[in-house]
Order: sequence, then C-alpha cells, then structure tokens
Amino acid sequence: MQKKEQLYEGKAKKVYATEDPDYVIVSYKDDATAFNGLKKGTIAGKGVINNKMSNLMMTMLEKKGIPTHFVEQIDDRNTVVKKVQIVPLEVIIRNVAAGSFSKRYGVAEGTAFKSPTIEFSYKNDELGDPLINDYHALALNLATAEEIDAIKKMAFAVNDAMKEFFKQLHIDLIDFKLEFGRFHGQIVLADEISPDTCRFWEADSWDTTKHVSLDKDRFRRDLGGVEDAYREIFKRLTGEE
Ligand code: TMP
Repeated sequence: MQKKEQLYEGKAKKVYATEDPDYVIVSYKDDATAFNGLKKGTIAGKGVINNKMSNLMMTMLEKKGIPTHFVEQIDDRNTVVKKVQIVPLEVIIRNVAAGSFSKRYGVAEGTAFKSPTIEFSYKNDELGDPLINDYHALALNLATAEEIDAIKKMAFAVNDAMKEFFKQLHIDLIDFKLEFGRFHGQIVLADEISPDTCRFWEADSWDTTKHVSLDKDRFRRDLGGVEDAYREIFKRLTGEE
C-alpha cells in the first residue's frame, strides 16, 4: 500500500492516507513528550520499537478475539491500520497504584489493587485530558451507552491477556492507556500499545518503597536509561537485540 498525503501529525506518530479510503499508514517517530507536551525529547529507536511492539500486541489480542485496527506492518516504522474514527476517550486500566492515581488519591505507588480499575479521560489537549465518568461521556455525546459498554469489556479483556503475557516475560503490567475507534460501526482497539502507554515494572522488584520501571516513566521522571528500557522490553518480547 502506498503512502499518500499526510493527514495528521501527533506527538509520537504521523498518519498518511493510502489509495484505499478504509486504510491509513501510521509512521512512528522517536519524539517523546510528557505532561501534555510540556516536556519534549527524543528517545532514539523508540519509533521502531513501538511500531513492532504495538503490532505484536495487536496480533496477540486479535488471537484472543479482540478486534483491533491492525492490518499489516510495512517496515520498521510504518504500519497499515484501519482508518477509524477515534472515540475521544483515553481508557486507563490499573492493576497497581502509580502515577496520577497515587497522586490524586494519596495511595503509595506500588499498592496492589484487589481488582483492576478503569477510568476515562476526555481526549482534549487544550483541557489537559480531564478525568471524566461514563455519564459525562454520554452527556457530551462522546460515545453511546453500547459503545461504552463494549469499550469497558474489551479494556478488561486486554488487561487479562496482557497481564498474563507479560508475566511470562518477568514483567508486571501496572497500568496502561488504550484508545478505541469506530470502523464500519464496530468498536475496535486503536492507537498503540507500547512502553509509551503502559507502565511495566520488573517483576519481584517492587513494593511500596521501590520499583524498576521499563517504560516511559524513565523519561517522564528523568531516571536515565530510557533507551535501554525500551530495548530491554523489546528483547524480552522478541529475543531480538
Ligand atoms: P497516569 O498515572 O499518568 O494517569 O498514567 C496512566 C497510564 O496511562 C500510564 O501507563 C501511562 C499512560 N498514559 C498515556 O499513555 N498517555 C498519557 O497522556 C498519560 C497521561 C498516561
């Protein structure tokens, strides 16, 4: 499939039209941002890792019966995906308290939950992606009740599949963000699944006083070893250096 005109440039990816109106090509960049774009940087090799990793995760999830936007990887940084209409919700699942949850509710990072949580943010950079609930999403007409129901079910199913998958790689899935889209009336998993969008902690390394992050928190929190963390995740996933 051929890249045509650029349709959109986001913080981490560009999107191009193709000759088929049902498909677009996403192109992963090495650019990294945090705190709604306030912090900017580059993570060398990130685009290649996130592209390949996201495609592996989407393929794994499709096998588990979760519909995704993934169509075909073209090369190291470029992938054909279904052209979806993104539902403007960031869907966050958490298994262990960390990040904004810990801050907002005063719960120590590394506190494991009895059962996973779900939350929605309204995807709106100008407003800083504010936290909203299902009723807000319905009131604002961001999604229908049926769509919200489907999204919740799929998000928990993704969590079950990913937790199990990463456990085998000696990695604990702490939390992650998903985005969904509409494709010919069906809700499908879209965007990416990568160390940009998940918290991965080295298994058996953590409690409420410490943890070893193998994800974008190394960039957000200036922990160093950012590229190494992305490479390590990729190596455990694929065996490739
Ligand atoms: P948070 O604790 O900062 O709310 O982040 C929860 C999860 O969502 C974490 O795995 C990182 C991911 N995330 C994104 O993918 N994009 C974002 O813009 C934010 C704020 C978090």
